[in-house]
Amino acid sequence: MAKTMLEVRELTTKYVTRFREDVYAVDHVSLKIEEGKSLGIAGESGCGKSTLALSLMGYYFPPLHYMSGDIIVDGKNISGMKPDDVRKNVLGTDIAYIPQAAMNALNPTRKISAFIEDVVRAHDPGRSRQDIRDMARKRFEEVHLPQEALDKHAVELSGGMKQRVVIAVSTILSPKVLIADEPSSALDVTSQKVVIRMLKEMMEKGFIKSMIFITHELPLLYNVTDDIMVMYAGQIVERGSSKEMVFDPVHPYSRGLMRSILVPEDGTRANKLIAIPGTPPNLKKPPAGCRFAPRCRYAMPQCQYNAYPISDFAPGRSYRCAQSVEHLKEVYAREDE
Ligand SMILES: Nc1ncnc2c1ncn2[C@@H]1O[C@H](COP(=O)(O)OP(=O)(O)O)[C@@H](O)[C@H]1O
Ligand code: SF4
Ligand SMILES: [Mg+2]
Repeated sequence: MAKTMLEVRELTTKYVTRFREDVYAVDHVSLKIEEGKSLGIAGESGCGKSTLALSLMGYYFPPLHYMSGDIIVDGKNISGMKPDDVRKNVLGTDIAYIPQAAMNALNPTRKISAFIEDVVRAHDPGRSRQDIRDMARKRFEEVHLPQEALDKHAVELSGGMKQRVVIAVSTILSPKVLIADEPSSALDVTSQKVVIRMLKEMMEKGFIKSMIFITHELPLLYNVTDDIMVMYAGQIVERGSSKEMVFDPVHPYSRGLMRSILVPEDGTRANKLIAIPGTPPNLKKPPAGCRFAPRCRYAMPQCQYNAYPISDFAPGRSYRCAQSVEHLKEVYAREDE
């Protein structure tokens, strides 16, 4: 049986604003990833994807607070660890993180080698400079970066080279879970695909044991990650294989995400575009019942009052909705005629 690399059980985290309001941006999230597998997380802006990433890597600095739940990496429970222990014992080795728009965030005035030293030394303060250079050289070879790039400043590198630097650095300590949060520019779908393909190559070579790729574009994940989870208003609303989620989404929000974006790539073009009206709710005061109800074209009166749990309906598939899968599929089939 495949080994579980990451298991998250009912993770709940919140922001506390300056006005002492609670924002539950990650609400009872559970997920599992096996060794060698990739999971895509999709959802519009403001749905809690980045907060989930920060929460998974133990980045609990105010205003973000851990509330409850477990995060287990390769059998080790890292939930509730102090930030200092996380930095020493988790970051880079258990979990590595590529932040949103990482390629543009490299400090332009520092040498790439200094940046890599920071990453390695945060975990292993005693490592010699020469050792770190040797480690970096090996990774640079794997991502086809010239060794000279080590002594360059970020401003001297092309966009593509910066992408490769970020990938080399984030995999340098062979993490068990790598989390990439929209690492390329939001508008540039092709470059996001390039990044994710390179990361998959690094996983095939054994430099990463499993990975999570976050994007606001569900169709982008087709044929790229093994599984996809859709997140809405801090909660998971559906999970399935990448093919099922793109061609056969069940939850009205997943269907909306698929049908509201036109991606001119093989197999992912929607036959009819259907925009989702409105925007995700403000999480200071989420809707009382189903959080998607105010925007859902299939909502029933009770959806406004009742919150529905996420439930399994087929192997590897789960959804959160009051309507039966059969009913939703019938409605969708009629709409698509
Ligand atoms: N520092 C913060 N303080 C309070 N609320 C925040 C903070 N950062 C994000 N949020 C709120 O948390 C929710 C989720 O945000 P985020 O995780 O960034 O979503 P996504 O990555 O999906 O765009 C949003 O409602 C956002 O307003
Ligand atoms: S529970 Fe109701 S409002 Fe929510 S997604 Fe299902 S049909 Fe729509
Ligand atoms: Mg984000």
